[in-house]
Amino acid sequence: MSVIDEVKGRTDIAGVVSQYVALKKAGRNLIGLCPFHSERNPSFFIYPEQQSWHCFGCNTGGDVFSFIMKKENMDFGEALRLLADRAGIAIPSRGARDEEKEEREPLYKINEAAARYFHNLLLNSPEGRKAKSYIQSRGFTDKTAAEFQLGYSANKWDDLKKYLQEQGYAEEEQAKAGLMVESEGGRIHDRFRNKLMFPIWDIKGRVIGFGARVLDDSLPKYVNSPQTPAFDKSRSLYGINLAAPSIRQQDTAVIVEGYVDVITAHQNGLNNVVASMGTSVTESQVSSLKRLTKINNIVLALDADAAGEEAMLRVVGYENTLEANLLVAILPKGKDPDDMIKENPEAWQKMIAEAIPIMSYTLNMIAADLDMTQEKNRFLVASRFLEVIADIKDYIKIDHYLGKLSKLTGLSYRKLEEVLSEIKSDRQTRLPRREITKPSPQALFRNRLEEDYLSLLLHHPECKANTEKILPEFFLNSENREVFIAWTKVNDLNKLRETLAPALHEHLDIIASRELPSDRLDDRDADYRHRLEERFYKNMAARTAEILALEVQEKGAGADLIKLQADKIDYDTRLKEIYKQKSRKRLESRR
Ligand code: UTP
Ligand code: MN
Repeated sequence: MSVIDEVKGRTDIAGVVSQYVALKKAGRNLIGLCPFHSERNPSFFIYPEQQSWHCFGCNTGGDVFSFIMKKENMDFGEALRLLADRAGIAIPSRGARDEEKEEREPLYKINEAAARYFHNLLLNSPEGRKAKSYIQSRGFTDKTAAEFQLGYSANKWDDLKKYLQEQGYAEEEQAKAGLMVESEGGRIHDRFRNKLMFPIWDIKGRVIGFGARVLDDSLPKYVNSPQTPAFDKSRSLYGINLAAPSIRQQDTAVIVEGYVDVITAHQNGLNNVVASMGTSVTESQVSSLKRLTKINNIVLALDADAAGEEAMLRVVGYENTLEANLLVAILPKGKDPDDMIKENPEAWQKMIAEAIPIMSYTLNMIAADLDMTQEKNRFLVASRFLEVIADIKDYIKIDHYLGKLSKLTGLSYRKLEEVLSEIKSDRQTRLPRREITKPSPQALFRNRLEEDYLSLLLHHPECKANTEKILPEFFLNSENREVFIAWTKVNDLNKLRETLAPALHEHLDIIASRELPSDRLDDRDADYRHRLEERFYKNMAARTAEILALEVQEKGAGADLIKLQADKIDYDTRLKEIYKQKSRKRLESRR
C-alpha cells in the first residue's frame, strides 16, 4: 500500500475539515460556512460516505488532499505530509534515510552561497540601495540586517544563476534548491528578482530556503522557496535558530505570522519569537518547539480577525495530542506584532504575559455573542465545548474544563460528564481511529476509471487534444487530479515527473505501468471521457437534489436555493446531452 493510500485509510475528512470549519449535520452529510469564500448561509458540504467535500457557492470540491492544499496553500506533497503527521504515519523519505540526507547537504550549501550573495548585493552594490533604504524605512538597524543576513535579489533574470554557475553549482542543482524556476519555454531563470531577501534557517543554522518581499505595494507581497528536500514550510519556523537559546531560557516560545514581526521582536530584545510564515500553525511546528521547553509554554500571537479564531479549533487538538501548554494572545484589531512592538514594547509584553490557555479561549469563543440567559444557547455552548473536551486525554484538565463549562452554562457537572462519555463512545464507533490500519471503502482509494483514462493519456499524448471538456474536478482523487493537471501542461513523461511533487512519483509509476489494450483507441478515449463526465454530473445532480429536498423539510438549512436550482438544471441538461451522445454512439455502432 502506498503512503497516499495509508494516509487516506487513517484520515476521516470530517475530522480534518472540522478543525477548520464548524460543521453541523445535514441529513447524512455535514454542512458549514465555506472557508474559501465569504458567505452567510452555509453551502459547504462534507460527504463522509464519499470522503469528499463540495462548496455549492464557489463550485469547488474534491477530497481531503485538495481541501488541505487549498486551505493551507500547499502542494500535494506538503498536504500529504501534514495529513500523514496528523495520522501518525511516518513518511519514510524524510530523516530516516541516508540518501535523503545526502540529497539535502548540497542544497544547504547552495542556499548558503545564495544568501551570502544576496547579502553582499544589499550591502555593497549600487542596485542594492533601494532595498537598503526600504530596510531603514522598516526601522531595522545595520546590526539587525547583518544578524538576519538580509539581502537583495537584483532585478535581472539570471544574476544569481550566473554567479552560482561561476561557483561551480549546476543549473539543475540550483533548480532543486528552489532558487530557479522554469519558464513556459523551458528556460531556467532566477526565482527571486528585485526582492528583499530573508534567508530561512533550520535550528542548526543551515539555510533551508528563502522568503522574499517586494519593495513596494505590489502583489503578491511575499514569495517563498518552494518545497524542496531541504525546505518544508509547514515544518519550519522562521527565526528558530536565533530564538532557541532564549526559548530554552525563558521556557516560553511565541509564534507570530510574519518575517518582519520576528525581526522587529528580536531587535527589541524579544528573542523568543518565531514565525509560522503565514500558514496556520502545524502540529510539527508545535512539536519542534515543545522539544525546546521544559514545561512547554507556547504562545500563539494571533490576529484579531477571523483567521485567528479559525486556527483555534485545529490547534486545540495539538495541545491534546502533544500535551503542550498552548496559550493564545489576541492582537488589537488591525495591528500586527511589528506595529505593536514598535509602538509600545511593554504593551506587547503585557499581552504575552496575559495570554490565556487555548481551551479557555475556545470556550470564550464558542460563547461569544450568545445570550447565555437563554436556555437554548446554554445547551448549544455545552454541546460544542463538550466536543472539544472529548479530545482531551488528561483527566485533571477534563475535570477543570467540565467545571468551567458547568459554571458557565448552569448545567450540572454530572449531566455534562454523562453527555461527554456518550460523545466519546459515539466517536469510537463512528470515526476511524489512529490504530486502525484497515483501509475504509475501497473505491475511495484507487479509482479505476480515473487511472485507466490517465494511463491512456500518458501512453497516447495525442488524446490530450480531446481533453478540453474534461475538468480537473472530474477526478475525485487528488493524486489523479494532480497528474492530469500537470500532464496538460507538459509534453514528455520525464518533464511530467519533474513537475510533480515527489510524493506523487510512485503513483505516477503505477499509472504509467498499467497495461491497457491497444486497439480501438478512439472509442476507448471517448468512452472514458463520457464516463468521467457522466459520473461527475450525476453526482452533482444527486447532491443538489438532496439539498433541495432537505431545504423543503427543514426550512433555513442554508445554501442559496435559487443558485442551487439553477445549478441543478445545468447538471441535468449536461447529463441529457451526455445520454444523447451515448445513444447516438450506440446507434452508430449497430449500423
Ligand atoms: P502579512 O501579510 O501579515 O505580512 O503576512 P507581514 O509579515 O505583516 O509583512 P509586512 O509587514 O507587510 O512586510 C504574514 C506572513 O505570511 C506570509 C509571509 O511569511 C508573511 O511574513 N505571506 C504573506 C506569504 O507567504 N505570501 C504572501 O503573499 C503574504
Ligand atoms: Mn506587518
